[in-house]
Amino acid sequence: MTQDIVILAAGKGSRMKSSFSKVLHKVGGVPMVNRVLATASTLTNAKLHLVVGHQGEQVEANCQDFSANVVWQNDPQGTGDALRRVAPFLQADGATLTLYGDVPLIRASTLEKMSALSTPNTLVLLTISLDNPIGYGRIVRDETGKVTAIVEQKDASENELAIKEVNTGILLAPNNHLQTWLASLTNDNAQGEYYLTDIIAMAARDGVEIVTVNPENEAEVAGVNDRVQLAALERELQSQQAITLMQNGATLLDPSRIDVRGELITGQDVIIDVNCVFEGKVVLGNGVEIGPNCHLKDCSIGDNTIIKSNTLIDESQVGEACDIGPFARLRPGTQLANKAKIGNFVETKKALIGEGSKVNHLSYIGDTEMGANVNVGAGTITCNYDGVNKHLTQVADNVFIGSNTSLVAPVQVAEGATIAAGSTITKAVSEKQLAFARARQTNKDNWPRPVKK
Ligand code: UD1
Ligand code: CA
Repeated sequence: MTQDIVILAAGKGSRMKSSFSKVLHKVGGVPMVNRVLATASTLTNAKLHLVVGHQGEQVEANCQDFSANVVWQNDPQGTGDALRRVAPFLQADGATLTLYGDVPLIRASTLEKMSALSTPNTLVLLTISLDNPIGYGRIVRDETGKVTAIVEQKDASENELAIKEVNTGILLAPNNHLQTWLASLTNDNAQGEYYLTDIIAMAARDGVEIVTVNPENEAEVAGVNDRVQLAALERELQSQQAITLMQNGATLLDPSRIDVRGELITGQDVIIDVNCVFEGKVVLGNGVEIGPNCHLKDCSIGDNTIIKSNTLIDESQVGEACDIGPFARLRPGTQLANKAKIGNFVETKKALIGEGSKVNHLSYIGDTEMGANVNVGAGTITCNYDGVNKHLTQVADNVFIGSNTSLVAPVQVAEGATIAAGSTITKAVSEKQLAFARARQTNKDNWPRPVKK
């Protein structure tokens, strides 16, 4: 069946105490509403509608990657009112699924279970039983167990308040009936709102079958109203992701001390030590080992590479069997060929480092093309910036660069060349040449050291 999916995101979110929309706060590095849109997009035959209101411009701008029909609800008057604004855009047949921009962990598998039960004469409700149902709409069933209504907390009788089965808010209703039901909603209730939940009693009255589905876990239907709940869902998502990583063959030394804010793909026998943060899309090959306190963002790491503690890698590609860190920083545009070595306090940026080349200590290598088997001595830097433009340093295969060398770009060092320690290289060095570019040492005999008076 075709499906309209309505994501409600017009609410004020005042308890967040934020200058930006609640649904744009992130869980696992992704704005909550984007998570919901992404999950909804995986459903087949789905047409997305996004209801915005409070801080709606921000939400609309943020969601442009999803081809959702944005519907404005400037003066929100309840969930039923929100659906009524979307009503003119709904397809004639099929069914409409209602989701919430602040309920980010809903799973596609749960929504698929609901869709599978949908017919033109069936309304599917996602419900859950809670020990503490306070605040939620209660699911009212008759003596045969059939759902007859949803009663909101503020409108419930004492008997109804005792019901533990609650409305998660997520429901799937057939479009042919929905239009009629929405048109007959009133705001005659404790909150003076148009309740979407009033359509349940209408469905029961019209002989539409009402079936219920339960989510796999409670976190799927948990909403975020404040930053305490935001943090709780963040931990929940991180723990779910950690479990998936371990099930896929990665060892996490402490699954409660890893944060994945985006997508982390791991090969076999990856080992990740504590307090590592992964952002954007990160791919780790087989046998990759990552030490404690590393931060990897939008990068790929080849098989058997070892990344030692306190290393930062951003928008870089690392080959196989490389050795990086501790305390290394690979900035955007770094590409390490296999077996390259980047040691402590080394910063790279827009740098190609050839196979087996080593930059082991205290260096800055930027805007550089370096061949294979190059040895870069401690303290060597590329002077790539003249204050206006960046310039390229080219170092061919098998070059040996002595410690504390400055390579003033643009400059080329040809294959097999050697550079003496302490040199400031401003001119090209040819194949197999030795370049000295430092002041000569002078030794004076019997030098009278100054004495204190
Ligand atoms: C709603 C349900 C309740 C359910 C609960 C689950 C109704 C009447 N009640 O109650 O049965 O147990 O969710 O959390 O539906 N929103 C809009 N426009 C509006 C009103 C709300 O976009 O005019 C959005 C809000 O931003 C929010 C969501 O809809 O994300 C839910 O609205 P809220 O007023 O919080 O509903 P509840 O009172 O919690
Ligand atoms: Ca409310």
